[in-house]
Amino acid sequence: MSELHFPVMLSECLEMLDIKPCGTYVDGTFGRGGHSMEIAKRLTDGKLYCIDRDITAIEYGKEKFAGFDNVRFIKGNFCDVPSLMSGKVDGILLDLGVSSPQLDEAERGFSYMADGPLDMRMDTGSALNAKTVVNEWSFEELRRILFTYGEERYSSKIASAIVREREKKEISSTLQLVEIIKSAMPAAALREKQHPAKRTFQGIRIAVNDELSEIETFLENLPAMLKPGGRAVIITFHSLEDRLVKHAFRTAEKPCVCPPSAPVCVCGKKPTLKVISNKPILPSEDELSKNPRSRSAKVRVAERL
Ligand SMILES: C[S@@+](CC[C@H](N)C(=O)[O-])C[C@H]1O[C@@H](n2cnc3c(N)ncnc32)[C@H](O)[C@@H]1O
Repeated sequence: MSELHFPVMLSECLEMLDIKPCGTYVDGTFGRGGHSMEIAKRLTDGKLYCIDRDITAIEYGKEKFAGFDNVRFIKGNFCDVPSLMSGKVDGILLDLGVSSPQLDEAERGFSYMADGPLDMRMDTGSALNAKTVVNEWSFEELRRILFTYGEERYSSKIASAIVREREKKEISSTLQLVEIIKSAMPAAALREKQHPAKRTFQGIRIAVNDELSEIETFLENLPAMLKPGGRAVIITFHSLEDRLVKHAFRTAEKPCVCPPSAPVCVCGKKPTLKVISNKPILPSEDELSKNPRSRSAKVRVAERL
């Protein structure tokens, strides 16, 4: 794996995590450890748990962090943090989406730029892959994921083209799918700056990895994972992810959810989190010029009350 990698909004995340040298931290999306390395360096007696659902990330991390006694690796899903480790923590970081090696290695099937098998699984042990979604899901299911998860305006046309083509021949490679997507789009859309297959690939990837429900489960469990004063720092890359985080943080911050007409509170809800910055933190101009992956990044931060 190449070492050329810029962790997104690194200094902002470190500042927001407000690392205590003796604290316990979780990097729920280890990737290739760009954020983890800087967290680990700031710990003395503290501990860092690095989680990733991709076994290749965990194997890479074990080697890269061989000299660090206080770093532990867990192959698992960040939504299972409560069962993956015991006790509460001082900080959790999530840097959502796919990692550079996942994108760069054509055989993982995430890239619309290089030919590879239609896979897109972050956890190569999971049952559902992109080939099954593309060849077996109904027109309506395909249209829905392209529209909802990919925010693709030509979702119907692309889903129809997929259904038509798969009747002739199984769709098994990424570039075969790219050609089908292109054939369904109007010429003007093909001239846009964004790659024509970007949104469709995003939609399929989110479905294959069940990404949004995992974020939702994580957010539901979050207050129970953090010590008082502990922080969650979450980097999102598209509006669907950001909306989930924003909404969950705001809900956790609210004291009472009784209807305004209720004379007294009957819900008994207490706030569990405090939102640290109401507006998301965005990448600096400097980072935008050096790190293209940061373009759509937003960081949201909340602290356990
Ligand atoms: C954007 S990369 C993280 C990059 C990392 N911060 C770095 O600097 O190298 C996201 C990583 O999170 C992992 N991932 C995504 N969703 C996950 C989940 N629900 N549970 C565990 N790992 C997940 C992916 O496999 C990928 O390796």
